Amino acid sequence: LVERALDGQLAIAGFAGFSGRIANLFDYARENRAGTVARYIPELARQDPDQFGLAVCSLDGQRLALGDAEQAFCLQSVVKPLNYALALALNGENQVHRHVGREPSGRRFNELALDPDNRPHNPMINSGAIMCAAMIRPSRPLADRLDLVQRFVASAAGGAACGFDEAVYRSERQTAARNLSLVKLMDEHDAFPEGTDTGAALDLYLRTCSLTLDCQGLSVGAAMLANGGVCPLTGHRVIDPRIVRNTLSLMLTCGMYDYSGEYAFSVGLPAKSGVSGGLMIVIPGIAGIALFSPRLDRQGNCVRGIEFSRRLIEDYPFHIF
Ligand code: DON
Repeated sequence: LVERALDGQLAIAGFAGFSGRIANLFDYARENRAGTVARYIPELARQDPDQFGLAVCSLDGQRLALGDAEQAFCLQSVVKPLNYALALALNGENQVHRHVGREPSGRRFNELALDPDNRPHNPMINSGAIMCAAMIRPSRPLADRLDLVQRFVASAAGGAACGFDEAVYRSERQTAARNLSLVKLMDEHDAFPEGTDTGAALDLYLRTCSLTLDCQGLSVGAAMLANGGVCPLTGHRVIDPRIVRNTLSLMLTCGMYDYSGEYAFSVGLPAKSGVSGGLMIVIPGIAGIALFSPRLDRQGNCVRGIEFSRRLIEDYPFHIF
């Protein structure tokens, strides 16, 4: 790091100045008290709406942590890109995309809808994520499958602690009517690979949504994606470059619910949000950013995360175009 700094080759030159500016943007975003916690999963409805954390990890391992950056939260849909990447690594692109598309749905994340080929539209919405879960080591016991995902998430996060929120999982299990309907819809249209235990696929999906990280760990995962699949802290290759490319393409076009087009247009970065208030932002070749703020807007994105993203792009030339 010191050598690169002396050569003026750091991913973010003047990290101290950058950190100061990010802290200002963080304070700005904190002023925004709009939005409410997700209510459709009872356990999430109990979250403290004013928690707010942010972490940055640059490709050369420079770190910044603000507010509740060390508060673990359940990933919810933020896990979807990682489940997709894992499904690709285990099955290959052709097999995965025989069963899930790569087109934005233009609908809500849990809408009962399939694409014209009777597949879920993409892996970033619930139906597509249940499909990816179905393709993660289907012949193994559920506990092994969850263990595999949990270890994958932890290694993506540079060895950070990846926990499991049992209360959220139980809560979601009890209110899974919509996800059950999505499974039925896909089953009715023979969308799953032959022989799929659809109940186990749904269960694995719900369990992966309940995996936890803090912003610090999630920012390292985002930085790994920004770094072509190599974790900037451990130097370990977590994901092949081609899979990173696929994952980031879908995060850019489908990662922010039905705000994805607007986010791609105005912020121009691959990102993924989740209903617990998590947000992972990838700045390719530069850094990963993670935010956690449970106040959500009407689309289900965290209000402060959107506010922060917009201001970040006003101040720094990070828009990929
Ligand atoms: O299945 C659900 O509804 C939640 N576990 C996931 C929600 C989420 O963050 C939605 N994202 N696409």
